Amino acid sequence: MLDENILRRAFGSFMTGVTIVTASDDNGNPVGFTANSFTSVSMDPPLLLVCPGKHITFYDLFNTTTHFAVSILAEGQESVSNNFASGPEDRFEQVSWHRDSFGTPVIDDVCASFSCSVHHRFEAGDHMVLVGKILEFEQFERPGLGYSSNGYFSLSKEQQADTSSDKDVNGVTGMIVKYGDQILVLNTDSGLTLPAIQQQGRNGARSAMQQHIDELNLDIKLGPVYSIYDDKQNNHYTYFLANAASDAAKRVGQFIPVNQLDSNAFSDKAQATMMSRFKTEVRNKVFGLYIGDVESGDVHHTDTHQEN
Ligand SMILES: Cc1cc2nc3c(=O)[nH]c(=O)nc-3n(C[C@H](O)[C@H](O)[C@H](O)COP(=O)(O)O)c2cc1C
Repeated sequence: MLDENILRRAFGSFMTGVTIVTASDDNGNPVGFTANSFTSVSMDPPLLLVCPGKHITFYDLFNTTTHFAVSILAEGQESVSNNFASGPEDRFEQVSWHRDSFGTPVIDDVCASFSCSVHHRFEAGDHMVLVGKILEFEQFERPGLGYSSNGYFSLSKEQQADTSSDKDVNGVTGMIVKYGDQILVLNTDSGLTLPAIQQQGRNGARSAMQQHIDELNLDIKLGPVYSIYDDKQNNHYTYFLANAASDAAKRVGQFIPVNQLDSNAFSDKAQATMMSRFKTEVRNKVFGLYIGDVESGDVHHTDTHQEN
């Protein structure tokens, strides 16, 4: 008997993009859901496939529709993905979209969209393999939104965290280290703080933090960027999510269960705000990437639901 959770994690280790698969119902109303099961299949004829699960509300519709569309989300469209994965019923009121020549809804501001007629479909276990013949498509030069079991990622933001340079800037790199349902905090006289280091410029946040982990000989594995922001004092902050393999890091701090964490106990206001967001996201199993400054910025909420 295969362990379903481990299998899900194994599938989730395959990094993908994110798409919104859309169609129109009998009354012409737009329907759609988030899918990362997209695959390009053939150039001649031009074919693609996606796998709608039997669990989705409009499975029957995708089982009978003659046309559908696939929109490949761009960097920054995490909220669109979240909206179509668990969001409200009026999903299409939350995003900007248009209809293609066949009346099928297509999401705006994406990397690419494909309008398809159904070429073939068959049931495959608890999903359907839906093969579309591409009738028309659009392509834009935008970086795509990535997805894996760690949540969403953006290659250009990762690269920016590691390579952009500005020698006048004081780089502060921190991490939110999870161990089970606990996180690592440091107790200081003025309150709680997250493990963090400083480096000159914005250069090499990830490598600087990795070096710090290695120097302390901690069993901590760095994950994706969680938050990037600047303050008015020319400090540039980058926080990573990270996982500890054991509670050995308690020799440098203290592990506190996330649900007992008082975000107001953090001495730094920006860290307090970030940890308050983190607590909510742990509860909702939804993670985001924050990009902005100390006071304002965009939180792109994400959904760690894993498929394929
Ligand atoms: C990144 C991501 C990828 C997903 N991929 C798929 C997929 O390929 N097939 C699928 O059926 N559901 C997938 N889901 C889940 C559906 O989007 C989710 O169950 C959605 O709510 C279904 O629509 P419904 O709420 O109208 O039933 C994915 C969710 C996320 C966040």
